Amino acid sequence: MKVFKKPIFTGFAPNLTLTDLKLACVFLFLPWYWPKWRKGEYPAKVENKLKEYFGVEKAFVFDSGRSALYFALKSFNLKEGDEVLIQTFTCVVVVNAIKWAGLKPIYVDIGRDFNLDVEDLRKKNTTKSRVLIIQHTFGKPADLNKLISFAKDNNLLIIEDCAHSLGTKFNDQLLGTFGDIGMLSFGSDKVLSCVRGGALITNNKNLAAKIKELQNQLLDSTKLKTFQHLTHYPIFAATKPIYNWGVGKLMLALAKKLNLFNKIIYSKEKIGLPVNFYPAKFPNALASILYHKFIILDEVIKHQQKIAALYHESIVNSKIIKPEWTTESIWLRYTVLVTNPQKLLHLAKREGIILGNWYNSPIAPADVNLKKMDYQIGVCPHDEKIALRCLNLPTDININEQEVKRIIELLNKYA
Ligand SMILES: Cc1ncc(COP(=O)(O)O)c(C=O)c1O
Repeated sequence: MKVFKKPIFTGFAPNLTLTDLKLACVFLFLPWYWPKWRKGEYPAKVENKLKEYFGVEKAFVFDSGRSALYFALKSFNLKEGDEVLIQTFTCVVVVNAIKWAGLKPIYVDIGRDFNLDVEDLRKKNTTKSRVLIIQHTFGKPADLNKLISFAKDNNLLIIEDCAHSLGTKFNDQLLGTFGDIGMLSFGSDKVLSCVRGGALITNNKNLAAKIKELQNQLLDSTKLKTFQHLTHYPIFAATKPIYNWGVGKLMLALAKKLNLFNKIIYSKEKIGLPVNFYPAKFPNALASILYHKFIILDEVIKHQQKIAALYHESIVNSKIIKPEWTTESIWLRYTVLVTNPQKLLHLAKREGIILGNWYNSPIAPADVNLKKMDYQIGVCPHDEKIALRCLNLPTDININEQEVKRIIELLNKYA
C-alpha cells in the first residue's frame, strides 16, 4: 500500500536541507530579519564565492537563470533578428530569454547524450548566426572540442548553459569557463538550489562592464515574490513527508491555489509573454540560503554520481534504455528512455514514487505553445522522438540507497 511507503520525488525541491529550512524560517518568522529579505551582503558574497570557485574574473547574480541568460545576450550588443543557435531539448524560459532580447532562436537537434548534435548544428548555422548556446544537459558535458572549434571557425559567441551542470568538469576544467559567458541557475531542481536564482560568470572585461551596467539598472525583487520563494521551504518540508497519505498532496495543491509559493514556470511564459516580476535583483535572503549551501557542493555531486552508478549497474530490463555511462557527468538526473513513459510514471505513482519528465516535449514543458516559440514540427526529429520517451530518475542528496532499490525494482519489473 502506497500510504505506508515513504514518498520518493524527482522534482519538488529535491535538494531541500534542514539548514535551508532553518534559514528560510529565520527570514520569514523573525521580524528583525524582514528588512534583510531583499537587501544585504549576501548577493555580493555569492558573487565572490562564484569567482573563487570558478577562478574567473567576474560573476554577477540575478533573480533567475532565465534573467541571467537574457542579460548575457543583451551584453553582446547584437542586432534585432540576429540568430542564436540552441538545442530544442531545453526549457521554454531559455527560448523566451532569446526572443525578449530581440534575437531569433534557431533550433538544433540533439544527440543520444541529450546535448547538441554537431552535425545538425553545421546544417542550421547561417550567415546571420551570432551566438551558440551550449547546454550541458543533466550534468553531462557537451562535445566541447567540436563545438568550440565550430564556434571559432564561424565567429560565434558562446554562452555555456550550466543550469544542470554546476561543478561538472571537462578535461579537468569547470564547465562555464570555456565560452565567453557561463550561465548558472539556482532554481528549485538544480544542483545547488535556493528556489530561484541565477548567475553569469566571465573573464571578458568588456562583457563584464556591460553586464554590470545592466545589473545596476535592475530593481529589487518584489516583497511578494521574495515571500513566495521563502514560503516554498516550510510548505514543501511539511507536505512532502505526508504526500502519500493524500493530505500532503491536498495541502500542497491548496497552497499552490492560494499562491502561497512560487511557480517554476508561469502560464504566460509558456506562450512567450513576459511576466512583470522578472528580471530583478537576486534577493538577499535567497542569496544567504545559497551561500550556505556551497559547503555541501562536493558532497552533492559525489552523491549524485554514486546514485547514478547504482542505477546503471542494477537496471537490467531490456525495455529500459540506459544513458551511456560516463564519469564526466555529475548526473543531476539519471535519464532513461522507455516506449511508454506515461505507463511507467503511472505505475511508479502507485508505489508512491514520482519520477521526472524533463523534457517531455521539444521545448518543455509539454503545454508550451510551440508556434509562439517559432518551432515547427519536423525541424528536430530526433529530439521530438526522444522527448516522447524520456523519463528521469532522482539522484538528489535526499534519496538513499534503500529508496533507489525501490525504483530499480520497479523499473526491472516494467514490461
Ligand atoms: C537548461 C536550462 N537552462 C536554463 C534554465 C533557466 O533557469 P531558471 O529556472 O533559473 O530561470 C533552465 C530552467 O530550468 C534550464 O532547464
